[in-house]
Amino acid sequence: MSAKQFTARAGANIALVKYWGKRNARLNLPAAGSLSITLANLETTTTVVRNPALRSDELVLNGRSQDAGRVTGVLDLMRVRAGRDGFCRVESHNSFPTAAGLASSASGFAALVVAAAAAFDLTLSPARLSELARRGSGSAARSIFGGFVEMSAGEREDGSDAVARPLLEAAGWPLEVVVAVTDSSPKAVDSRRGMNHTMATSPYYPAWVDGVAADVDVARKAVAGRDFESLAEVSEYSALKMHASMLAARPGLIYWNGATLSCMHAVRELRAAGTGVFFTIDAGPQIKAVCLPGQGRQVAAKLRSIDGVQRVLTSSLGQGARLVPET
Ligand code: DP6
Repeated sequence: MSAKQFTARAGANIALVKYWGKRNARLNLPAAGSLSITLANLETTTTVVRNPALRSDELVLNGRSQDAGRVTGVLDLMRVRAGRDGFCRVESHNSFPTAAGLASSASGFAALVVAAAAAFDLTLSPARLSELARRGSGSAARSIFGGFVEMSAGEREDGSDAVARPLLEAAGWPLEVVVAVTDSSPKAVDSRRGMNHTMATSPYYPAWVDGVAADVDVARKAVAGRDFESLAEVSEYSALKMHASMLAARPGLIYWNGATLSCMHAVRELRAAGTGVFFTIDAGPQIKAVCLPGQGRQVAAKLRSIDGVQRVLTSSLGQGARLVPET
């Protein structure tokens, strides 16, 4: 008898107001909120099969067996919730190059919880799915939803209110995203280690955390009012402040290379000349340029022409995590 399999798909997301730091490591609770956009063209598709013959969970990512540690952590929560045991085989594919230094944990854990909930026959609200995805990776809580998404820091000790919620669907303001890849080697310090190091050693970390709620407020209002200028200003402010807190860690974390800086200047020059575009940068050297509808092509051409840019990916905004029919 072949076991029943369930497949889900989720888009990567890019934070415009960043998440960087935790208030509880065990429950993976963020120190502050964040606000993101979910992407249509950078997706993870994940299939989960419960298999009584397995002695542990198995993870295959883009055709290669991987350590299933963090996946097992999330599946354990699902097994407890469902009151069922049974290890799973998890097979996951990214539609974008994993080695391109683009966050795949967000789309990965969002797709995982949606597929695993179905495999364990659990009916969960989007908020509960977001909570479970957060346990895998903080940013994954946001990929449960499409379009513009706000993540709440929450106040409860158990983290049940540290979940994301949708603000506006993609079609409500169809911004375009251009990702300029400037280095496709795996990053030396991943987000989790980088934020822990910043929390532990950067004198700027408290100032960073203190400002996030106000930035989320500005960004939420900018989204509601489709105010691109305001969203551009607060997004670049948030990204640069986050990087300032990392640069002031001991030793400082420098995620940028020369091409990253060239792209930042190019984006600012385009904006000064009237193009609707701003940049954001995560824990890596890639530039994510967010553009007004219709302006992505011009921005992509500009970024592609910059020395050190290896490739350019473009995306529209997309939907949240969902089950897809088995073929
Ligand atoms: C810079 O969600 O990868 O991309 O919760 O430890 O798994 P963990 O961290 P993760 O951190 C993302 C950091 C960021 C900013 C963001 O996406 O908000």
